[in-house]
Amino acid sequence: MTIVFDGISKSFGGTRALDGIDLRVEAGTIHALVGENGAGKSTCLGVLAGRVTPDSGTVTVAERPHPFGSPRQAARAGVAAIYQELSVVPTLTALENVFLGQERRRASVFEDRRRMREQYRALCARLDVAIAPAQPVAELSIGDQQMIEIMRALVGTPTAILLDEPTAALGPRERSVLYRVVRELKADGVTIIFVSHNLDEVLDLADHATVFRDGRISESRPTAEWTKADLTRAMVGHSLSPAIRTEQRNTRPRELLAVENLTVGSKIQNLSLSLAEGEVVGIAGLVGSGRTTLLRALAGDTPPASGSMRLHGDPRRWPRSVREARRAGIALLTEDRKRSGLFAEATSSDNLLISNLGAVSRLGVVSGSRSVAASRSAATAVRLSEQRLSSPVGVLSGGNQQKVLLARAVHFQPKVFLADEPNRGVDVGAKAEIAASLRGMAAQGSAILVVSSEFEDLYELCDRVLVMWRGTLVAELIGPEITIDAMVSKVFGPGGAVR
Ligand SMILES: Nc1ncnc2c1ncn2[C@@H]1O[C@H](COP(=O)(O)OP(=O)(O)OP(=O)(O)O)[C@@H](O)[C@H]1O
Ligand SMILES: [Mg+2]
Repeated sequence: MTIVFDGISKSFGGTRALDGIDLRVEAGTIHALVGENGAGKSTCLGVLAGRVTPDSGTVTVAERPHPFGSPRQAARAGVAAIYQELSVVPTLTALENVFLGQERRRASVFEDRRRMREQYRALCARLDVAIAPAQPVAELSIGDQQMIEIMRALVGTPTAILLDEPTAALGPRERSVLYRVVRELKADGVTIIFVSHNLDEVLDLADHATVFRDGRISESRPTAEWTKADLTRAMVGHSLSPAIRTEQRNTRPRELLAVENLTVGSKIQNLSLSLAEGEVVGIAGLVGSGRTTLLRALAGDTPPASGSMRLHGDPRRWPRSVREARRAGIALLTEDRKRSGLFAEATSSDNLLISNLGAVSRLGVVSGSRSVAASRSAATAVRLSEQRLSSPVGVLSGGNQQKVLLARAVHFQPKVFLADEPNRGVDVGAKAEIAASLRGMAAQGSAILVVSSEFEDLYELCDRVLVMWRGTLVAELIGPEITIDAMVSKVFGPGGAVR
């Protein structure tokens, strides 16, 4: 069904999130929305999904006026949405989450259950996932949680599906499954609007791409008329230099952290690694290879079954909590922003300063002028605009929340910084700045361990890449050995690609 936005505007306090949006999405097409962090993409989807009530303007769906302000009514009008921030309920099972909010159609509860189980199985088969229906969602990886959200969107057989950065949490295999499903949906006549910062994906998948800039549409064209460079220019207002690998700058090969024979449950077996001062090391691997578990174990967030740790050459007790790890100078940026410890009500500035109040205090009292200076410099390092420092973190767009978390790490200056998907949800313009700020931390002598599903990001950023497969390290690529092809060929393990 054709979707038409006509003069849609929305302000939040002083922020004009949408400023007179006119947009036509043709029935049965795939339409991509792109733009820098905070440009208004999620707000635009929110209007259609019944999450955001616009101040003015109308939307028609299949030539009927679309109801505002009620997700349930939006769903009745055939619109299903998958939000940027996961909205699964961690305490419920996979099956319960998939059917959450569905209106009951059968009189008998047993009949309902049976049908749900059947439909659940069919959805799993369609999305090529094996998630036990009774498994609590809290135990699933972020990628699997995302798949559960996608299943939930498909349950109601919608006529339009909105996907807000659906692939950010997915590995290459799940991504290609999602692309296939999106194309199948299109073939069935479903209208699809998706938001992505991955411009290759946009050009590959979408029929039409619209660029948002500061709450307005800067340009909208059929994909055939876009190039990656044009898209970038329309987003950021100027062109960016193409990706280049940073030279290996690690000049101080002094061991900072060494880990021996780490075993964590069934997820990591006998893994050993060491990080040197000033080094940026990447971990490449598929979803489920144990990357996140490794980072969480190093950060004191998941207790290992066995393993020993040395810091600066001295053996030390394995950290038993995140706090203990932080005291030793080991900090983690989690891939899951909801569990990252951002205080939604507090300002961005307070959220980032909290990691290291000592640095902005004198004689135990927090100094206003030092706080301002420190939060500005951390914000600059990650290209977070200064105006956002005084707004509550909870109202920032997803990508800008990620920048606040990174700024927090910049301010904390950990010895070992563990970054799980630091570029998740971050726009192309900011990626380079984030890479530069990670490099900057390394130049100060920290060691950085980065997990990313984007091989291109690892290629650009790392001095060394370790390839993880089923809980072990299966390859190490150093300097010029780091190529996208090398990573792709190693992540499937010794047997090579199987699918
Ligand atoms: N509930 C809210 N309260 C206050 N401001 C908001 C709210 N929701 C969005 N905004 C503001 O509206 C603007 C647009 O945000 P939006 O989330 O639509 O951006 P986005 O394009 O999706 O960005 P990203 O790529 O980072 O996800 C931002 O400045 C954001 O801070
Ligand atoms: Mg968004």
